[in-house]
This record gives sequence, structure tokens and C-alpha cells, in this order.
Amino acid sequence: MQLKNSTYHIQDISMQALAEEYGTPLFVYNAFTIDRQINRLQNAFDGFPHRINYAAKSLTNIAVLRLIRSYGLGLDVVSVNELKMGLDAGFDPDDILFTSNSVSFEEIKQAIDHGIKVNIDSLSLLETFGKTFGGSEPCSIRLKLDPLVGEHEASTKWHNKSKFGIHYSRLDDIKALIDSYDLNIVGLHVHNSSSFLDIPVYLEAAERMFSIAQSFEELDFVDFGGGITIPFHPDDEVIDVEKLGHVLAVKVEAFYDDYGSRPEIWFEPGRFLVSECGYLLTTVTVLKGDRDLPYAGTDTGFNHLLRPKMYDAYHEICNISNAKGELKRYHVTGNMCETDFLGRDREIADIREGDILCLKNAGAYGACMASNYNSRVRPAEVIIKNGEVHLIRERETYEDLVHKQVDIDW
Ligand code: LLP
Repeated sequence: MQLKNSTYHIQDISMQALAEEYGTPLFVYNAFTIDRQINRLQNAFDGFPHRINYAAKSLTNIAVLRLIRSYGLGLDVVSVNELKMGLDAGFDPDDILFTSNSVSFEEIKQAIDHGIKVNIDSLSLLETFGKTFGGSEPCSIRLKLDPLVGEHEASTKWHNKSKFGIHYSRLDDIKALIDSYDLNIVGLHVHNSSSFLDIPVYLEAAERMFSIAQSFEELDFVDFGGGITIPFHPDDEVIDVEKLGHVLAVKVEAFYDDYGSRPEIWFEPGRFLVSECGYLLTTVTVLKGDRDLPYAGTDTGFNHLLRPKMYDAYHEICNISNAKGELKRYHVTGNMCETDFLGRDREIADIREGDILCLKNAGAYGACMASNYNSRVRPAEVIIKNGEVHLIRERETYEDLVHKQVDIDW
């Protein structure tokens, strides 16, 4: 988003005009940013055979999935509905990996019926998988790696308490199941949360995975999951993906030398690809002053952008309608019947009732985590591509809210 003649634009489209045309709250995505981020990652990992599977959960819209597929990326899905959407968006079943957790075996079978590879994250599921399919269906195994030592205590803690994956210390149990059922293990997987992921953690996890991989024959891939983040706050330090690509390439080559073949290195980015492309436009409905800072109340809330409420996440906020206004300090809230700060004590250009505010980095885990709490409808979504605006989700209506409710005339 750029300032041109004191107004904010994406690819020459005025954000104020978009808000007026489509109404608010409105999610706006810039396809150019997705293109830039995909290219950055592809180039960064150019030094070794790799595949990027977009984490569909981060922005789950069929038009976005189709756009991402057009770059030749694969897909990481977490539910059968996500995988169906991926197939509808044109992904080849071979390019989808189903990484679920705590699902019934029924869901695993449905994925297999759709021709999708599954990533198994518990010993009991692996056993049921073996009993049902033997080696006739390939699968991969999701591992958890604690402890990742030293200064990266947060990573150790996260893996340690994590419900995800099979702990690597259970390697002998995994191997026993492989032997009993002649399992065809084609990949190993680990996911590190973005909350602690940095280059040293990445490399340590990679080394451990490569060492574990030596116990498996003929792997097709080693998958490092997602977790590469982008700066939400101007002071955030994030992974330099170009640097990561360089240092990882050295580890990957060393692994290939020992392993004797060259399994692909897979990645499952969500927020890296789609956070920065997204903006949530919202109208200031009420300005309230009291002893504290003024409150700018808006027509959205944690029903549409849950991250500030759920993780205390920082999303930069700017005033689209008064870009050059004097900077003042505000609390920005939603219109929920609960405390719902979207930003506390923020410096924002002078806000008037009726102004349009913009919350940045709302692409990943924004619309897909929205709800109908307080019986409010979910926003429309538009994407700007090659200077054109495309509506990719209509705003919900009252009828959508009551559509599945069953009224009883008591
Ligand atoms: N792969 C697996 C197995 C995952 O569990 C996740 C995210 C990803 C890939 C993508 O991670 P990313 O690159 O986007 O960090 N709702 C939260 C994030 C939950 C992430 C869950 N798993 C948020 O708003 O930050």
C-alpha cells in the first residue's frame, strides 16, 4: 500500500474508494505481494531441490488457492474440507499433504480416498494406518523434537508441551511399526512455531531431522513445516530467508552426501506468503474521550480479526481517510460486547467519526479465523491483481446467519 497524493493506494486503486464501493469491514488483498513473497522464497531455496506447500489454513479462499496453484506450489491441508477446496482450486492430489491432528481414522481414510498423502502424528494412528493399508499407501511421519537446546529455550518448551507429532525418542517404536506392517514411509515432517523460529533453531531442527532421516530408507522428502514470519511491528526481527537459504543449502548438501540420495526439502509457509498482502478496512463509528486516551470504536472487532485478542498480536493501524492528519494517540477498539482492543495507545493520524482505518498484515489468519459472534456477518474479501479488483467473498447477510438454524414454534 502506497501513499500517492496523500491517499493510500494499492496498484493505483484508492483504498478509500474501495471502502466506499464495497463497504466496511472489508478484507483487501494485494496479489502482487503474494507474488513477491513466493518469488523470494523460491529464490532463497534455489540451492537445493525443494517444494513449497502453501499452508491453506492461513488464508483459505478458493480464488487465493487457485492463484497460488498457478505458481506451481503444493498445498498443506489440515482437514478434509481444506483438501476438497484444494482439489476444487485445481491442485493435483499428488501436490497436497494432509497434516491433521486428533482426527478420527475416518478422516484419514477420506484423504486417502481422494488420493492425498497423509502425514501421521501419533503412534496409534500409525498402527491403525499399518493395519488398514500396510505398505500400499505411502505416508509421512510428523515428529516433535524437544529439546532444541541452549538459548532456544522457547522452542524446547513449545515442542515439549506440544500435542503435535511423535517424539523422536520413539524412533524404535516407529521402526517396529514399519517392520510389522511393511509401511512405506516417504517423508519426515516437523513444524516449528513462528513464535520462536529463527535461523539457529531452524538449523538445529534441520540437523536433527537429517540425522533421524538416516534411519529411513528412500525418503522422498524432509518437510520443515511453516513458521517463517514477517515483521508485524517495525521493531520485529525476523528470519532473513535469503540467508536461511544459504546456510540451509550447506546442511542439505552434507545430508545428501551421507544419505546417498537427494530427498526434496519441503516447506509449508502460511504467514510468510499471505500476511503482508492483507488489509482490513474498517469505519470509525464512535469517538469517545474520557480520562484515558480517546477510544476510536470501529465496525469490526475480534469477530473479524482475532489475533490481537487471542495472541495480543500487534497489527499496525493507519487512517486511510486522513493520511496527512496530525498524529495523535488512540485506543482502537471493535464493536463486540467484550473488551476488544485492536490496538492500544497507537499513534494515528487525527481520527474523525466516519474515517476509514486500515489494519495491516491481516492476510494470514484474518478472514479464516473470523466468526459470527454477536450475530455479526463476516466481511467481504477482494483481491487486487494487475490493477483490477476482484470480489472473492461476498459479505454475509442475515440470511446466512440463520440459514442452518432450526426454528421451533414451541
Ligand atoms: N504447517 C503446519 C503443520 C502448521 O501447523 C502451520 C500452522 C503451518 C504449516 C503454517 O505456519 P505459518 O507459516 O503460517 O506460521 N492462528 C495463528 C497461527 C496458528 C498456526 C498453526 N499452524 C496465528 O494467527 O498466528
